[in-house]
Amino acid sequence: MAFLLGGSVAAFLLLLFTTVKTCHLGCRCEEQSFGLFNSFSLTRVDCSGLGPNIIPVSIPVETSLLDLSSNGIRSIEGAVLSGPGYTTLSSLNLSNNLISVMNGSVFSKLRYLETLDLSWNAIKVLVEGFSGLPLAEVDLSHNLIHEIDLNVFRVQDHGRPFSVDLSYNLLKSVTRNALLSHLFKEYGFLIGYSSESVSTRPSSIASGSPARFLIMAPAADRQGYWGTPTSTLDWCEENYVVSFYIAEFWNTVSNLIMIIPPIYGALQTFKSGLEVRYMLSFLGLAAVGVGSWCFHMTLQYEMQLLDELPMIYSCCVFVYCLYECFRQENAVNYLPIALLLFFSITVSVVYLQWKEPVFHQVMYAFLVAFLVFRSVFIVTWVYPWLRALCYTSLSVFLLGFVLWNIDNIVCDTLRATRQRLPPVVGAVTQLHAWWHILTGLGSYLHILLSLQIRTTYLKYRPKVKFVCGIWPLLHIESEKMS
Ligand SMILES: *[C@@H]1O[C@H](CO)[C@@H](O)[C@H](O)[C@H]1NC(C)=O
Ligand SMILES: *[C@@H]1O[C@H](CO)[C@@H](O)[C@H](O)[C@H]1NC(C)=O
Repeated sequence: MAFLLGGSVAAFLLLLFTTVKTCHLGCRCEEQSFGLFNSFSLTRVDCSGLGPNIIPVSIPVETSLLDLSSNGIRSIEGAVLSGPGYTTLSSLNLSNNLISVMNGSVFSKLRYLETLDLSWNAIKVLVEGFSGLPLAEVDLSHNLIHEIDLNVFRVQDHGRPFSVDLSYNLLKSVTRNALLSHLFKEYGFLIGYSSESVSTRPSSIASGSPARFLIMAPAADRQGYWGTPTSTLDWCEENYVVSFYIAEFWNTVSNLIMIIPPIYGALQTFKSGLEVRYMLSFLGLAAVGVGSWCFHMTLQYEMQLLDELPMIYSCCVFVYCLYECFRQENAVNYLPIALLLFFSITVSVVYLQWKEPVFHQVMYAFLVAFLVFRSVFIVTWVYPWLRALCYTSLSVFLLGFVLWNIDNIVCDTLRATRQRLPPVVGAVTQLHAWWHILTGLGSYLHILLSLQIRTTYLKYRPKVKFVCGIWPLLHIESEKMS
């Protein structure tokens, strides 16, 4: 009898042990007891970092917290999140996975779910609702959501504040109208620029009054393919918003104007048998374009140097061309070459040690000033008929410089304005991209001016022609004037 009793007690205990304590292979389950006589307990199950095959995971009954983060989970479908332990779950962590489509109805069995962390996934689409769940906090930050229907968040009204973090997504302006017209009254907006400001809640929440908050930081500065920027400058354009592979999309593609026409110009110069220095001028400009492309694409320090140092070198070539334009054909003057070489090397060495962007900007401005004085002098005293070309080049460049400054000074306003505009219209407000276009054009026109001064002096009968009626090119007649 005693034996029977002991056996059944043992069997009962074993059963109790297996039902309550079974922990999924690899997971860490821990139970915390608290309250009077430890009458309350809270089971925490940590299944993070175990790989995509972890689901479906069986969890002890009465589990409160389940961590499924960092598992490489690609999708959650059907009844994966159901079973005895799930009914009591109050917090579910699915962050740092690879989920791309989130069907909210998979959470329908989690009747006590308050906190849901879906951050750092690849969620593009959010279908169906979290309707009926007593959610208080949903973290959807760092995903790829373009569009969102706020009806998804019609959660159970539990009289507590409900917050949805949608920061670092691709929302931009896409659903602004829908947001504003239907739900603005229901949802407060908190627009923050960084993760710090995201965590600051408005005072109405602090005071405990029921409010619904949608935290929507702009899509500024997401993570991307090239990693954290190491450059000493990061321009106003929001990083990795248009493409995962290009940090500043518009600032990158706008460099094409600095790459393609100068390469064509260099080929033309070569074909016309003009002096090598003009080919170098065109190639120098193209090199700046390529460097700038790499810099804005990656925002890495090495690439920044690839942009900034060629700016100095190519400008030195321009200076040489313009100061040596009234000399014999193919004559090489070693003194200015030595001086410019010395200048280039000094600037490079100093700038590699002293990573101060302003130093580079001042040195560049110094060279540009030389060019401005010299070209104004030439069109004033020597070839007045080149005035139009000279002043066009200068004003285009100057306009670029003005926009460059505006972009730096009122960046916050520009970013906010962009949020309200449709994406393509918003791209027009990328003033740094305009700086590339205008300085690319201005520099190109400057090389044409310099080339025209030179060929006129050498009596080559140069003529500016317009490709497709738009893009200027210098046409050189093969024989000299007699
Ligand atoms: C979401 O899941 C539910 C239940 O699993 C299913 O009935 C529904 O069709 C799904 N919705 C979409 C849009 O896939
Ligand atoms: C979810 O897990 C991630 C990574 O382990 C962690 O950083 C985050 O704080 C967790 N979220 C919650 C709500 O606990």
